[in-house]
Amino acid sequence: MAEIERIVILTGAGISAESGIDTFRSAGGQNGPGLWEQHRVEDVATPDGFARNPDLVLGFYDMRREALAQAEPNPAHSALARLEREFSGDLLLVTQNVDDLHERGGSADVLHMHGELKSALCTSCETRSPWRATMIDRPPCPVCRAPTLRPDVVWFGEMPYQMSRIYQALETCDLFVSIGTSGAVYPAAGFVQEARASGARTLELNLDPSEGSRLFDESRLGPASVLVPEWVEEVLGD
Ligand code: APR
Repeated sequence: MAEIERIVILTGAGISAESGIDTFRSAGGQNGPGLWEQHRVEDVATPDGFARNPDLVLGFYDMRREALAQAEPNPAHSALARLEREFSGDLLLVTQNVDDLHERGGSADVLHMHGELKSALCTSCETRSPWRATMIDRPPCPVCRAPTLRPDVVWFGEMPYQMSRIYQALETCDLFVSIGTSGAVYPAAGFVQEARASGARTLELNLDPSEGSRLFDESRLGPASVLVPEWVEEVLGD
């Protein structure tokens, strides 16, 4: 593996599953496609849903933010933090997750393309601010004081964050690794094809075959807490 110089990693809900955070679309789970915690996606994860019923949406994300306090990073998060510390080449860790388990697992540089639960977005001044408390009670924006905060989470129909940085990294990487994501939601689901077009090797680490499994050079099936530390050891030459 000594020839690898630039790695892009994409993580999804599956890397946090063993930390006790529900995935969205796992086979056998209670939440089928389009249903989150018994809510319809259009109600809690779209700008229209927020306009229709802000209390429902603010309460939903308050609940998810509180649930994070019960979760701890697992060995998959820690292994990626170790990779960041010890890999001598370039590494970009992109996550679709809005939890902070990569950071609490020790990763310093994490690109949250779908936003973060612990961040607030003010719809008046458009500032993103760190946020720990609830939002249902309409607290003022720490910058402009308007009571117009929303979760800093990218909803369906909105543009994910930092796409140009991600595509640049995909264009130059020599290895793309997808961990714990079903490959059901674009643009992240298309990253494997971008990486392939750049000539990168592509590897999937997932519990079940994903919708895009056939697009990867290699797919390893199993829990992230086992597969990710094993793969990191391979890369670091342990
Ligand atoms: N280890 C590895 N993979 C796992 C584990 C585990 N312990 N448990 C579940 N998985 C896999 C499942 O097999 C599934 O393929 O993780 C994947 C989770 O898929 P989704 O629930 O669809 O989550 P994700 O791909 O992150 O969803 C993408 O969709 O709903 C939106 O914005 C939301 O960021 C999210 C995006």
